[in-house]
Amino acid sequence: MAIQPILRLGDPRLFNIACEVSEFDTPELEHLVEDMFDTMTAAEGAGLAAPQIGIGLRIVIFGFDRNPRYPDNDAIPKTLLINPKVTPLSDEREDDWEGCLSVPGMRGLVSRHKHVRYTGFDASGATIDVEASGFHARVVQHECDHLDGIIYTQRLTDPLKFGFTEELLGSDQLSTKGCPE
Ligand code: NI
Repeated sequence: MAIQPILRLGDPRLFNIACEVSEFDTPELEHLVEDMFDTMTAAEGAGLAAPQIGIGLRIVIFGFDRNPRYPDNDAIPKTLLINPKVTPLSDEREDDWEGCLSVPGMRGLVSRHKHVRYTGFDASGATIDVEASGFHARVVQHECDHLDGIIYTQRLTDPLKFGFTEELLGSDQLSTKGCPE
């Protein structure tokens, strides 16, 4: 186990464009991916991008079988995605609340594509090609944004639909559903 500290909003490294991974199947890559999964699991996140632990590489992980923080959401297969590309499969979009491990304790309403296809590679360099909808598609879009230095707070549908989770829950604006971090 090697849980790494997660960078928080304000750290300029979160705004950098991450670099493509060029070497697969290396001990360094395996070690980094292990650290990412350990860090995401410890924080009960639905996803994590390498830049969030200070590594400027195009690597994201996401997925969970069951997560106490998202009791209403279906499981998402645990996935490692390297050098990802996300393509919308329709013009359909939906608004939902998001959080981020780099913006602890807060949520904001964000519009995302409802159906996407994502492609990329696993640690051995094998191709991944998946179609996803709803929460699964949202998590992928959120994590891949991190690789381009974009935090969800830059994508709020309305600056007033953003705040502390406890306050939003207390005022019934927020359900526990649909909050990837
Ligand atoms: Ni995030």
